[in-house]
Amino acid sequence: MTSPRTTLSLVDTDPAELAVDAIVIGVHSQTTEQESGSPAGALLLASGAESIAAAFDGKLTETLALLGATGGPGEVIKLATLGTVTAPVVAAVGLGPEPSGAAPAPETLRRAAGAAVRALAGAARVALALPLPDDADAPAALRAVGEGALLGGYRFAGYKTKPQPARRAPVAEVLVAVPDAADATAQAEVTRAQAVAGAVRTSRDWVNTAPNELRPPSFAEAVATAAREAGLGVEVLDEAALAAGGYGGILAVGQGSEAPPRLVKLTYTPAGGGNGKRVALVGKGITFDTGGISIKPAQGMWEMKSDMAGAAAVGAAMLAVAALKPSVTVTGYLPMAENMPSGTSYRPGDVITMYSGKRVEVLNTDAEGRMILADAIARACEDGADYLFETSTLTGGQVIALGKKIAGVMGTPELCERVRAAGDATGEPAWPMPLPDDVRKGMDSDVADISQVNAGMDRAGHMLQGGVFLREFVTDEVAWAHIDIAGPGYHSGEATGYWTKGGTGVPVRTLLHLVDDVAANG
Ligand code: BES
Ligand code: MN
Ligand code: ZN
Repeated sequence: MTSPRTTLSLVDTDPAELAVDAIVIGVHSQTTEQESGSPAGALLLASGAESIAAAFDGKLTETLALLGATGGPGEVIKLATLGTVTAPVVAAVGLGPEPSGAAPAPETLRRAAGAAVRALAGAARVALALPLPDDADAPAALRAVGEGALLGGYRFAGYKTKPQPARRAPVAEVLVAVPDAADATAQAEVTRAQAVAGAVRTSRDWVNTAPNELRPPSFAEAVATAAREAGLGVEVLDEAALAAGGYGGILAVGQGSEAPPRLVKLTYTPAGGGNGKRVALVGKGITFDTGGISIKPAQGMWEMKSDMAGAAAVGAAMLAVAALKPSVTVTGYLPMAENMPSGTSYRPGDVITMYSGKRVEVLNTDAEGRMILADAIARACEDGADYLFETSTLTGGQVIALGKKIAGVMGTPELCERVRAAGDATGEPAWPMPLPDDVRKGMDSDVADISQVNAGMDRAGHMLQGGVFLREFVTDEVAWAHIDIAGPGYHSGEATGYWTKGGTGVPVRTLLHLVDDVAANG
C-alpha cells in the first residue's frame, strides 16, 4: 500500500512572480512591546516575504492580523491575492517569536513547512518563501524545510472502497525559494531530503498497513522486494531456516501464529569498503502484539499494529542508505513475528534457548519484543559490527517515563550521547537512561540464565528492564544503543506540523543521521 509522493525542487526567481497555486510565507508572533518596539500582539513578517509584502503595498501584516493571524507555531492563514502577486493564494505560516539575531531553528522550519503543505492540500503546486539563513546553517535549514514539506504531504492511501470527494489531494509539487537554485550544496540537500522523506513515508506506510495485510511473511516480502529494487543485499530466513539456525527467541514468539516468523537481513556495502566501519541496525518487527497468552486488554489493542515500527524504520532507512551511498558498511536486521494466543503459543514458565546459546525464562509472553531482538542482536554481533543501533516499540514504561515524543536510549554511554545529539539535530528527541545493577539483579532466574522481566514481575524500572535484558546479547567489543520508541513511533492524535496521524517514521531520520555521523567521524 503506497501513497502518492510529493516532489521537491528549488527556485530562485522572485516569489511574487511564481506561477504556483499558493505561496507560503512565514510570520512571527511578537509577544511584548519591550521586545519588539512595536505594539504588543503585532505580527512580524519573516524574511523571504519581502517582495510579497511590497506587492501588498505594506498592508499584508495588517490584513493577516484582521484574518486572525497571531504567528503562533502551526497556524496557517490563507489570503486571496486578487492579482497583487502571480499566485492566487498567500498562506502565512506561524513561526512563533522571532529568535534574536538568528534564523528560526531547523525544527521550527520543518514543522512550519509541514503544517503549510498539509493546510494547502488540494493545491497542485506550492512555493515556500520561508526565512532561510545565508551562513553555515543554511544547509540544515534547507534540509529541514524540504523534509517538513515532503512529510506534510504524506497521506496513507487507506482502504476506502469509494473515492472521497471531500478529501483534497495532497500537494503534488513543492518549490523552495532560495538565493541560488543552482548551488550544489543546496541541490545536495534537496536530493538528501527526498531520499530521507521517502524512507519516512515508506516506514509510515508499513506501520499504517492493516495488520491482517502485513503479517511476517508479507512484511518480509515487501521489505525484500523494495530492498532488491534499491540494490541492497537481501537474505530472508523463513521458519525452517530459523529452526535450523537455532533462533529460539524469534521462533518462540512466532509459534503461536499461523503466519510464521521471519528474519530479514539487508546489506549495504560501500564502494572500496568505505571508512572500514560497520554499522548494524536492528528493528523490532512484531506485526501484531496481542500479548500472547499474557493477553492484553481489548481497549486500544488495535494500536499494536504499530509494534513493527522499529523494523519499518530500519527497513526504510536501509532504502535511503542505498540511495545516499554513505562511506560505511550498513547492515539491517529485521526480526518479524506475530504475537498471538493459541494452542501452540509459548507460555509463561517456558525456558527458551536463544540464538546466542543463553537460556531465558519466560514470565510474561507480552515481553515478546526482547525475545526476537535478542536473537537479531546476537546475529548482528556474530556477523561483526562496530556500532549497533537497535530500535523498538519495547515498553509502555518508555511512555510513562518520557512521554509520547521523546525516545528512551540505553546502552554504551558514548553511543547514547551520539543518539541524543542525532535526535536533537533531526527533531526526533531521545534521552539517555541508565542500566542499573539492581534492575539486572532483579532479573536473576532460579532456573535459567536470566528472566525475561523482573523475576517477581515487579514493574519498577520497566523500560530499564528491557535495556538490561538486551545488553546480555551484545558482545563486549560492540558499541550499542537501544532506542525505545513505544511513544514516538505512533501518533494517535490529530495531524500536527509534519506529523500525520498514525505511523510517524521515527527514528528513520535519527538512524540516517547516525550513519552519516559514523561515515564522517568513525
Ligand atoms: N509492544 C509493547 C510495548 C508498547 C506499549 C508499545 C505501548 C507501544 C505502546 C510490548 O511488547 C509490551 O507489551 N510491553 C510490556 C512489557 C511487559 C510485559 C514487561 C509493557 O509495556 O507492558
Ligand atoms: Mn508485548
Ligand atoms: Zn510488543
